[in-house]
Amino acid sequence: MKTELVRVPAAGQSRDEILSKAGEAIRRGELVAFPTETVYGLGANAFSGEAVKRIFEAKGRPQDNPLIVHVSSMEQALSLWQDPTSAWQERFLLLAEHFWPGPLTIIGPASRRIPSAVTAGLETVAVRMPDHPVALGLIRHSDVPIAAPSANRSGRPSPTTASHVLEDLEGHVELILDGGATGIGLESTVLDLVSPKPTVLRPGGVTIEELAELLGEVGYISRLEEGEVARSPGMKYRHYSPTSKLILVEGPPDKVLPAMKKLLERYKGENKRVGVLATREALSKGEFAEADLVLHSGERRAPETIGAKLFANFRTADLRELDVLIMEGIEPRGLGLAVMNRARRAAAEIVRVE
Ligand code: TXA
Ligand code: MG
Repeated sequence: MKTELVRVPAAGQSRDEILSKAGEAIRRGELVAFPTETVYGLGANAFSGEAVKRIFEAKGRPQDNPLIVHVSSMEQALSLWQDPTSAWQERFLLLAEHFWPGPLTIIGPASRRIPSAVTAGLETVAVRMPDHPVALGLIRHSDVPIAAPSANRSGRPSPTTASHVLEDLEGHVELILDGGATGIGLESTVLDLVSPKPTVLRPGGVTIEELAELLGEVGYISRLEEGEVARSPGMKYRHYSPTSKLILVEGPPDKVLPAMKKLLERYKGENKRVGVLATREALSKGEFAEADLVLHSGERRAPETIGAKLFANFRTADLRELDVLIMEGIEPRGLGLAVMNRARRAAAEIVRVE
């Protein structure tokens, strides 16, 4: 299969033509990769089991990991639920009003119209309205909801540019819409709204603090306990792994930096190619001169700057063929929780210092 990559201009007639053609491709059962405000998605008609199966093949994704359905309107979202209770409905409307379009995925009772390939046979479905004009335009032109996981090969870091998608999926997707780099850079928050207590299954762009402000108590599953696999199938898979060995160092900054230096010295002593991924605050001290590659992760006090570049940094580390990448951890609060969730799941080793 030939993969076509098309740059989508910000406005104008050619933009409409591109989106209209892409919408036709979705209706024909083809795969279209598109930008959202979080990461790039690999989309197919959510009502076509056949089309959705092709997503799993293209990504090499395990069949038991369900997909998020993307919508462009409230009517479309409402059409995807089956017999929601009024209490559920009330919470959903409140959340949608506050956070949609945006990086919040809401899990509700699945309409029987949704093929089991999308839900992986669960009775629930995950739905979100992305906050990106290309994503919204594509869904509108398709005239169907679009099922889409992140547009990476399974196990690779999620793509935040069209060229990341091409790197992973060339020959496996008909069309890639290039809308530039994504803003948030980390996948959406996944909120289980079916359980008695709303529970975050994956932290993301909408923070637990923001959700708690609106809903009261909000749970968070940070680790899978036995028996909880079925609740969040995606969590049992190792994710976002750079091929370089990622060592994440966590703790107070005045302890983390010396620990990172020690690790650097140790691996340099073993003749390894070693990279350092650290905040501007840490790098301003100029301590990692021995490293083969120094990557700026962002600002320690502004976790959104770190999230925006995290996956791109992982990909750079791989391209530069590092043996080891030593990453400075940050405080797991606000968006920092999503950053640290991704880093911990990608890490081969976590070093905690007190
Ligand atoms: O930001 C995002 O969410 C991106 C963009 C493209 O929208 N999409 C994305 O999709 O990250 P994916 O497939 O990489 O991650 C979806 C996550 C998985 O962990 C999956 O297990 C979980 O959502 N999920 C989907 N449906 C579910 C359901 N019914 N119950 C529990 N978890 C579900
Ligand atoms: Mg993914």
